[in-house]
Amino acid sequence: MVVLILGSGGREHALAWKISQSDKLTKLFVGPGNAGTSQVADNVSLDAGNFKAVASFCLDNEVNILIPGSEAPLVDGIVDYFEGHSELNHIYIFGPNKACAELEGSKEFAKVFMQDANIPTAAYRSFGPDTIEEAYDFLADLNPPYVLKADGLAAGKGVVILDEIEEAKATLRDMLLDEKFGNAGARVVIEEFLDGIEFSVFAITDGENYALLPEAKDYKRIGEGDTGLNTGGMGAVSPVPFVDATLMEKVRSRIVQPTFDQLRKRDMKYVGFVFFGLISVNGDPFVIEYNCRMGDPETEVVIPRLKSDLLELVALSRNNRLNEASIRFDQRSCTTVFAVSGGYPGSYPKGKMMNIPQLDDVMYFHAGTKSEGNDVLTSGGRVIAASAFGENMSDALRSSYSGVEAVQFEGKYFRRDIGQDLMANNGNS
Ligand code: AMP
Ligand code: GLY
Repeated sequence: MVVLILGSGGREHALAWKISQSDKLTKLFVGPGNAGTSQVADNVSLDAGNFKAVASFCLDNEVNILIPGSEAPLVDGIVDYFEGHSELNHIYIFGPNKACAELEGSKEFAKVFMQDANIPTAAYRSFGPDTIEEAYDFLADLNPPYVLKADGLAAGKGVVILDEIEEAKATLRDMLLDEKFGNAGARVVIEEFLDGIEFSVFAITDGENYALLPEAKDYKRIGEGDTGLNTGGMGAVSPVPFVDATLMEKVRSRIVQPTFDQLRKRDMKYVGFVFFGLISVNGDPFVIEYNCRMGDPETEVVIPRLKSDLLELVALSRNNRLNEASIRFDQRSCTTVFAVSGGYPGSYPKGKMMNIPQLDDVMYFHAGTKSEGNDVLTSGGRVIAASAFGENMSDALRSSYSGVEAVQFEGKYFRRDIGQDLMANNGNS
């Protein structure tokens, strides 16, 4: 099979690394990729948003399977575009069509979907510019903090959490009336604040069958102790010590199964990865959000734990035969720690020369890197992730940290506390 993965981050490197190991693979392309993906695939200069260019590349290079890494092309309808052109129909996209991707593309759609299926999620209402007065009243009835979400995709910047009601009202005005959040702000979901601990659960589905992948927890803030600005992810662990069999069973019966039942009920043939962004509130799981793709940096710990051939799973999925797959996982712990450019998530320099050693127990997944001749240079905020296995989380973290310490580039920063909060709760994990 000839495969094209779209994207250029750590998630795409991890997916490419895994698929490159498949004996079903004839040729692997990543567009546009990074210095890491070029070690396991051919990088091609492609913009995932330019469907026409992606399509003609697929035709010219006899691509059979297309895997979009991020949500944007899915929410924008790359699947529908390929389905709408007869010459592209033989290409299988492992990702949801536009209607299904609305689970991530519209917060309001996701909320209505969950409500219809009785899936636990924060109580909410949604408002537009014409109902701003009602929105003020709704805010007044809620206890702080106040959670405001721009309806559409906003590249992770659409959620604002505020302690003061006056601040919340002002932000709401900005979102609804000043279109501060672009088109995404045309409607705003206001919801109840859930106080708990977050984790992520992933499934793959062919539209009829699904299988769960290992769960993970990511660390979003730039600063230790989960302080400072949000980032694209500073580290992740899998499994998650507090996600025990009891909690996982609640996730299955209250969230995962009802989600797939509701998709079927609505005649939505969802193909690809489903990412359940969850929060455990006193041991009960609630959905914070759905994403229509894998997580980053979660992929960098979940995919290494997948022992089965990912490309074979995709191929089975193409024939609606995912139920025949035997999916096996490494029972060990996998962790990842990101090295980022100093200054990120604010402004930061690029083009710094990197030195990346070969370490037996570390899998480096590149994110913001590029090759120049024989050199590897930084080219983004999140630069490289050091993933590693261990018999338990502490052992895995020890190796991840040796990996992140060993990578060199000027201005390197990383959080030193990935996983620490979980150890405090679970002494020996
Ligand atoms: P989202 O884009 O919906 O995932 O929201 C971004 C982040 O905001 C989440 O990862 C949570 O940390 C936080 N968040 C969103 N909704 C809530 C909520 N209802 N209660 C508490 N935290 C939330
Ligand atoms: N790690 C969160 C995300 O991928 O959205």
